[in-house]
Amino acid sequence: MQKCAIYLFFGNICGIFIVVKSYFERMKEKYEALRHKKDVLILSIESSCDETSIAVVKNGREVLSNIVASQIEIHRRFGGVVPEVASRNHITAISNILDEALVAAGITKEDIDAIAVTYGAGLVGALLVGVNFAKALAYSLDKPLIAVSHVHGHISANYISHPVLTPPFVCLMVSGGHTVLLKVSDYYDMTLLGTTVDDAVGEAFDKVARVLGLPYPGGPEIDKLAKNGKPSIKFSVSSSLKNSLNFSFSGIKTAVVNFVHNKTQKGEKINKADIAASFQECVTDELSGKAIRACKESGLNKLVVAGGVGANYRLKEKLFEACQNEGIEFFNPVLKYCTDNAAMIGSAAFYMIQKGIGLADLSLSAKPNVDL
Ligand code: KG4
Ligand code: ZN
Repeated sequence: MQKCAIYLFFGNICGIFIVVKSYFERMKEKYEALRHKKDVLILSIESSCDETSIAVVKNGREVLSNIVASQIEIHRRFGGVVPEVASRNHITAISNILDEALVAAGITKEDIDAIAVTYGAGLVGALLVGVNFAKALAYSLDKPLIAVSHVHGHISANYISHPVLTPPFVCLMVSGGHTVLLKVSDYYDMTLLGTTVDDAVGEAFDKVARVLGLPYPGGPEIDKLAKNGKPSIKFSVSSSLKNSLNFSFSGIKTAVVNFVHNKTQKGEKINKADIAASFQECVTDELSGKAIRACKESGLNKLVVAGGVGANYRLKEKLFEACQNEGIEFFNPVLKYCTDNAAMIGSAAFYMIQKGIGLADLSLSAKPNVDL
């Protein structure tokens, strides 16, 4: 009996090993063949934070469907994303979204050439839902699985927004988790030019919004409120990074929080719109100034903005104006592709196929952090 159990145990392990190995070997051939296929349909999955999204993207540029189920309303009452709640909601949403995405694209599962999924960076529990769903789908359909980085996805949001855009360019990637300047030499060849040394800019927007009593997510709320205010309060970012392409937003965030607390403790009235406008003005000056410098220093005359904060009205206005003055071409994603969505992941995956990278086996797991 004991012997039998041991055989079964090792038999199972070997069985799993053989299945995984043969799936991956088969996929290597299929993946290679996709490079030469005329039309490539990718079903992509994104679940890194509080949006469950599935898209169908053709040849990296044409979005056939992009379904996004946002959990914003659910997390709003907590003032921010609760990771465990996000994971549970991804689980309940994901199957229905798959059906919706296929119907909207007018295709069946069998028409798909590959499955792409965000494996990091993000909330590990949330990512795991997408990764496990993608693995099961890829295995059951016998299709290649492509592991995509969320940051590359955000950059690729520009390829679906602008059919003419091609690398090389400088990218200012600004979101709730990242603030980086990148030199994008080719679709998958990029160099880090600058990064935040503390908070991501989206994080600073969200925290400032919170102290002003605005709902989550704070960035769009500050953006709206700032339109009614004057940038009359002198907030500043740390001058110690003035000669580098790195950023620091923790100081200005704390300065705004202290400003609000001091005023309220003294019983003085605060003008929320002026605070929002002053904070936004300072932060967008810093981002746009360094983005233009990055273009000049790297000798590139194309600037691309990516990530949720890229939706900011004032940031876009400043970048657009500065680019016009400097003879730099400016690109930003259409609004719906600025924040998290699966279409951008499908676009990134297409260019990974062309480069022959990113094919994943069934041991793929989620990663909270991913190297750029
Ligand atoms: O890219 P994204 O959807 O998710 C992450 O990868 O983090 O970015 C979300 C971030 C949040 O911090 C949100 O407040 C910010 O983007 N955001 C904005 C705007 N829209 C979204 N920040 C400033 N202005 C906006 N209009
Ligand atoms: Zn994102």
